[in-house]
Amino acid sequence: MHVLVCGGAGYVGSHAALVLAHAGHDVTVLDNLSTGHREAVRWGSLIEADLLKPETLDAAFARPVDAVMHFCARSLVGESMHEPVAYYQNNVAGTLNLLEAMRRHDVDRMVFSSTAAVFGNPVTDMIDEDHPKQPINPYGASKLMVEQVLRDAANGYGLRSVALRYFNAAGAAADEGIGESHSPETHLIPNALKAAAGEGAGLTVFGNNYPTHDGTCIRDYVHVLDLADAHLRALGWMDRERGAYQFNLGNGNGFSVLEVIEAARRLSGRDIPYTIGAPRAGDPPVLVASSRRAREKLGWTPRFDRMDPIIESAWAWHRAPAF
Ligand SMILES: NC(=O)c1ccc[n+]([C@@H]2O[C@H](COP(=O)([O-])OP(=O)(O)OC[C@H]3O[C@@H](n4cnc5c(N)ncnc54)[C@H](O)[C@@H]3O)[C@@H](O)[C@H]2O)c1
Repeated sequence: MHVLVCGGAGYVGSHAALVLAHAGHDVTVLDNLSTGHREAVRWGSLIEADLLKPETLDAAFARPVDAVMHFCARSLVGESMHEPVAYYQNNVAGTLNLLEAMRRHDVDRMVFSSTAAVFGNPVTDMIDEDHPKQPINPYGASKLMVEQVLRDAANGYGLRSVALRYFNAAGAAADEGIGESHSPETHLIPNALKAAAGEGAGLTVFGNNYPTHDGTCIRDYVHVLDLADAHLRALGWMDRERGAYQFNLGNGNGFSVLEVIEAARRLSGRDIPYTIGAPRAGDPPVLVASSRRAREKLGWTPRFDRMDPIIESAWAWHRAPAF
């Protein structure tokens, strides 16, 4: 298939492009390089275009496209609290522009990057797809709106879609020259590894008084190559199934902030100094995915189901980043 990877210069999108290319698909990347990296576009050509400028999108469809993977978003939870309109603009209005361009060019398949943030505060230990969806920030709300749009587009004109709700993406394909490089970086594993390397402004643990075994928040980390594999499987799913579907993607294993820091210390062989800061508003104590539906329906099994290989791959990238 010829797959248009929107946001393919970013972290998760570049790993999806790699996995698509290795599976024999043709890849074109569409990106405005707002947070992505030109150097991360190593599989397929880059079309510089902006979802907020609809007139720039047609160029990406010059060669017939079989499916779109849509990774473009602004995705900083804290920033979304202060700049809600910009978040709805980019994440919702941008997606509407992309859907219209797809319609103009008769493309009827989309895999969409959704997020655990659509659920808001968990009411059960393991979060499955039926868990209530009450996002507590504009970022999560913008993603939930797009999920609704995709359902309506399935009913309205037969768009096939799969929304994949990632929990915490982590790890890298350092040997292929790609990895996580956000600025600012808000994710724990790269920040712990920066602290291990003596870089960055210092690591802060946000709260150590949560009702968890060591008082710090527990999260579900899923390797970015496992996420990419789920995208590949979603293409096959859309061949077979009409409609709009949602799947949670996580390991199903929770790790506390202190456990991640300890694993990063052990695997890097470096001290990781950190300070304890105030808990962040809207940070639930535990967020762990039930990915049973993805396992059953997509046949997806995370290959990186332990913390060590996830951190090892991130550390390999961190020691020799290509960008
Ligand atoms: N990284 C995670 O842990 C995580 C977790 C859950 C969901 N997600 C979602 O997965 C997707 C990818 O996340 P990521 O960490 O790779 O982010 P990223 O910022 O690295 O990648 C996003 C890419 O989209 C591009 N982009 C953004 N707005 C655009 C626009 N208007 N037009 C064209 N290009 C645009 C950026 O330049 C960037 O290359 C996002 O939608 C994010 O919300 C990520």
